[in-house]
Amino acid sequence: MYTIILYAHIMSAALSIGPFFVLLPMTKRIGAADAGSLQALLITFKSAVRLVMHAGHVLVVSGVLMAWKGPWPWNSPWILMTVAVMFSSVFFLARAFSPVLKKFTEPEADQLALADKLRRSLWIYIGLLLLMLWFMVDKPALWQ
Ligand code: HEM
Repeated sequence: MYTIILYAHIMSAALSIGPFFVLLPMTKRIGAADAGSLQALLITFKSAVRLVMHAGHVLVVSGVLMAWKGPWPWNSPWILMTVAVMFSSVFFLARAFSPVLKKFTEPEADQLALADKLRRSLWIYIGLLLLMLWFMVDKPALWQ
């Protein structure tokens, strides 16, 4: 059972990070798109963000289950650091994309500035996920 949860955890980690690397080049096209293609690009962007959100929920639930039932103590520095990074960035993570995506539909929307904002959020998101991925894979004994 533990292996299945670990598999789901790693699978959801891949699904939480992977789509962002596809979305990055897409922000360039969003910045320059005409009204017709902008709609299609935004729909794709939204679907990818929804996929990442669901994968993120599986990631947290499977992680909590493993920390609870598995061989690693809860207070391992790499688990505590991952949880700390997650809690400190959760407000950013939850609001990074949807409000910006909604603004594209406003008549006065500055398409280029909004596309830049999406790109910046993607990089911050990727940075945070890669930092947590390092804690998980390397399991550094930061203070033990
Ligand atoms: C609430 C947050 C999290 C908790 C409590 C948690 C807990 C754990 C635990 C206990 C393991 C060890 C499994 C084992 O080796 O037996 C693990 C492995 C792993 N976690 Fe997490 N995790 C969390 C979030 C994340 C995040 C955000 C990522 C990716 C960005 C991630 C990626 C991984 C990966 C790739 C492994 C496999 C590492 C390996 O086997 O060497 N986890 N996690």
